[in-house]
Amino acid sequence: GPAVQPPDLIRYKSRGRLITMLTAYDAPTARALDRAGIDCLLVGDSVAMTVQGRETTLSVTLDQMIYHGEIVARVARRALVVIDLPFGSYQTSVAQAIDSAVRCLKETRAKAVKLEGGRTMASTIAALTSAGIPVMAHIGLTPQAVHQLGGYKIQRDEERLLEDAHAVAQAGAFAVVLECVPASAAAAVTAALTIPTIGIGAGPHCDGQVLVIHDLLGSTDGFQPKFARRYDDFASRMTDAARRFAAEVAQRTFPGPEESFEMRS
Ligand code: KIV
Ligand code: NA
Repeated sequence: GPAVQPPDLIRYKSRGRLITMLTAYDAPTARALDRAGIDCLLVGDSVAMTVQGRETTLSVTLDQMIYHGEIVARVARRALVVIDLPFGSYQTSVAQAIDSAVRCLKETRAKAVKLEGGRTMASTIAALTSAGIPVMAHIGLTPQAVHQLGGYKIQRDEERLLEDAHAVAQAGAFAVVLECVPASAAAAVTAALTIPTIGIGAGPHCDGQVLVIHDLLGSTDGFQPKFARRYDDFASRMTDAARRFAAEVAQRTFPGPEESFEMRS
């Protein structure tokens, strides 16, 4: 089908068509998810944890986000590609936020950026929107504030969540991610807004759902968040495949004649 554009997501909500978003950081994954008809590919700053092996998202740089974003947006045909503005690339000033977001859209084929924060980011979201840059907001558990929040904790203040949701919608965000909030609070926000809510650990009443691709595939050996459903077991399948390779090398059954070259006779 035709490429998904930011305003399409608002149309999907009005029609009751649920939105799907997954993270992608590399070309083969982006191609596979795009072919599967996933609506949005998020080049998440979660790349710091999933790919770079960090404990938090704080260390990833704007250059690294653009590197991954360029790859994903170049191969995606239909899916809307959204790049996370990383920690430190938009908090200094509105001008810094515009500079960072402009780089994402000039140096990649992504069509939108995502940033974390509610009321405190409203003026930044409004300025980006005024500059013609589509913004996806992200409220509830905002991992770039992990130290201030005291860890990755469920955010149960419904009044604050509703205020943040109204603020980002009023500022012009075309969608908002709700992370780790009670299902009832996510339902209240979803009912209150005309822009779609995309949930992660936010229950079934959102307008869409997002997962980190490594959590969906079971590519991560370590901690599994309660909200992540594993649709496969890639980590153990990768170990199995590597063990079989090692065993066949040891037995001299790899490579075989069909995987070898001979001199021309
Ligand atoms: O970086 C990321 O993967 C995200 C999603 C969890 C929404 O922001
Ligand atoms: Na993120």
